[in-house]
Amino acid sequence: MKPTVHYSDLGLVNTKEMFRKAMEGKYAIPAYNFNNMEQLQGIILGCIESRSPVILQVSGSARKYANPIMLRYMAMGAVQMANDAGAGIPIALHLDHGDTFELAKSCIDSGFSSVMLDGSHHPFDENVKLTKRVVDYAHEREVTVEGELGVLAGVEDEVSHDVSHYTKPEEVESFIAGTGVDSLAISIGTSHGAYKFKVKPGETVPPLRFDILEEVARRVPGFPIVLHGASAVVPEYVRMINRFGGKLEDAVGIPEEQLRQAAGSAVCKINIDSDGRLALTAVIRKILAENPTEFDPRKYLGPAREALVKMVKLKNEKVLGSAGRA
Ligand code: G3H
Ligand code: 13P
Ligand code: ZN
Repeated sequence: MKPTVHYSDLGLVNTKEMFRKAMEGKYAIPAYNFNNMEQLQGIILGCIESRSPVILQVSGSARKYANPIMLRYMAMGAVQMANDAGAGIPIALHLDHGDTFELAKSCIDSGFSSVMLDGSHHPFDENVKLTKRVVDYAHEREVTVEGELGVLAGVEDEVSHDVSHYTKPEEVESFIAGTGVDSLAISIGTSHGAYKFKVKPGETVPPLRFDILEEVARRVPGFPIVLHGASAVVPEYVRMINRFGGKLEDAVGIPEEQLRQAAGSAVCKINIDSDGRLALTAVIRKILAENPTEFDPRKYLGPAREALVKMVKLKNEKVLGSAGRA
C-alpha cells in the first residue's frame, strides 16, 4: 500500500475558511487550472503580487499529464515559494471534475486539500450517493468537497456535453443535506472552453441566469456556490492567436461585468482555465512567429508566464475582488 500524505504537511489549506471569508467579504476565490510548471508559477506569482488566496486546480487528466508525485511537490513548492516571498497566502490544491470515488480518494491520499465530485451527469439519486461516499471519506481527513447539480455545455478532456441543463433550485437543499458537500457548482448559463455562446456580429451574449442563482441563494443562505466555465475568453489574446496563425473564430466568453456580479453574490469560487490557456498560447505564437530561428523554450515560455501573471493579477483585482484579501 502506498503511504498517504496529508495536505497540511504540504502547507496547503482546505477551502472552508477561504469560502467563509469570501462570502462575508462579497468576493470570489479564484480557482485557476494548471498542468505544468510555467502555469503554476504564473498563477502563484499573480496571486502573491495581488495578495489573493488561491485554489490551484487540476483535472484528472492534468494530474496524469504532470504525474501525481511530481504534482504533489509542485504544489508544495508553490506554498514554499509564496512563504519565501513573505506572502503566506492561503493555497488549496483541488481536484477539478473528479468523476469516480477512486480518483477522489487517490487525490485525497496524495495531498489534495479539496476535491470535486462531478456527478452532474448521473440521475439525482446516483449523484447524491456517489458524492456522499466521497464526502464521508474526505471529511474524515478534513478535506473539503465540491458537488455539482445541473450540467454545463462544452468540451474538454474531462467534460463533454452538447447542451447545458440549468440547475433546478428545488433540488439544491436535499442535495446538500443528502451529501454533506461544502460547496456546490451550479449551471446558470456558463460553459467550458472558448466558445461559450453563438453570437452574430453586433449581438451581445445572453445574460447568465442570475434568477436561478438568487433562488439557490435564497434556499441555502450563506452556502458557497461555485461557477465553472467562467473564463471571459479575453479578446486581446484571441486576436493575438488569430493574428499569428491561429484559427479561433467566434471565440466568446462571459462578460467581466457579469462575473463581477456573480463574485459579489453567493458565488465564492470562480473557475478559470481557458483564459490561462489563451494567454500562454497567444504569447508563444507571437514570439515563435516573429522569431522563426528561436528554439530556447525559456525565450517563449518566460514571456508567456509573464502574461499569465498579469492576467491573474487583473482578474483578482478587477473581476473577482480577491486581491488584498490574503
Ligand atoms: O473544466 C475542465 C478544466 O478546464 C480542465 O480541463 O480536462 O482539459 O484539463 P482538462
Ligand atoms: P473555462 O473553460 O471557462 O475556463 O472553465 C474552466 C472550468 O470550469 C474548470 O473546471
Ligand atoms: Zn469546470
